[in-house]
Amino acid sequence: MRPTLIDDASSLTAWSGCAFVPTMGALHEGHASLIRSAARGGRPVVVSIFVNPTQFGPSEDFARYPRTLEADLATCAAAGAAAVFVPAVEAIYPRGIDAAREEAVNLPLPAVATQPRLEDACRPGHFAGVVQVVSKLFELVRPAVAHFGEKDWQQLRVISDMVEMHPTRFDGLRIVPEPTVREDNGLAMSSRNRYLEPSQIEAARGLSRALQVACAAQHPGTAEALMHGTLEEHGLEVQYAVVRSAQSLMPVQGFEVPTRGLIAAKLGNVRLIDTMALPVWR
Ligand code: PAJ
Repeated sequence: MRPTLIDDASSLTAWSGCAFVPTMGALHEGHASLIRSAARGGRPVVVSIFVNPTQFGPSEDFARYPRTLEADLATCAAAGAAAVFVPAVEAIYPRGIDAAREEAVNLPLPAVATQPRLEDACRPGHFAGVVQVVSKLFELVRPAVAHFGEKDWQQLRVISDMVEMHPTRFDGLRIVPEPTVREDNGLAMSSRNRYLEPSQIEAARGLSRALQVACAAQHPGTAEALMHGTLEEHGLEVQYAVVRSAQSLMPVQGFEVPTRGLIAAKLGNVRLIDTMALPVWR
């Protein structure tokens, strides 16, 4: 069945208590798996599609970010969404984008958002924009649960801590993590994979290969060196390739606690990220 299309925030009241999947569209199988998992919980699923300007830096790909609404609505329908919220910019930022950018700068952020040598070092202000839009979406939609992909591990940690910081504001909302969906060749699915030329796919596989290699290391320092080596062999420009505590995203001395390998690397002007849980060795 075709989901209800909501473009007017005032009709969202009927959907409070739903399961929510926020997205920026250009939907792929990773998004579809979030929607299917949300639907299995038994609550009606609301998907939002909004390319949020405040989480893009001035030289980033906001203008060329893929916009594929018709195909996205079909994906939402097939995956079991009951409604799709496609707000206009004015519905989210009534005072305009410039005012919204100014507002974002002053938002309090959980500590995980600004851990050194991760996303904040490469995309300053990115998580302020994410926290801003996701908190506005939560307040409009008022979901009981919201599903986020582990692919964007730092984002998942930021949103979980944001909700924990404001338990009453979000009304007992539960954040549900969802496993990363990959192509058969290991490449994590991403809307930005559309930017890759077929000849770049082999190089892009370097991220998941580097994380696989890191899984065999006995020490975080060795894992980081191995990741760097693999990424460079694939001709990728490394932004970061680190091992961190899965919870705090702080550096770790050993593998006694749950950790993640986290990578951001560039292939020409395409930026790719990937992450994996590394084994706990005691
Ligand atoms: P977007 O990149 O569209 O991702 C929407 C959701 O899909 C996120 O929770 C993301 O982690 C998840 N996702 C993306 N690729 C995935 C994959 N291969 N496997 C599993 N899940 C995957 O993330 C955003 O949008 C935005 O920052 C948003 C939270 C919507 C705020 O604007």
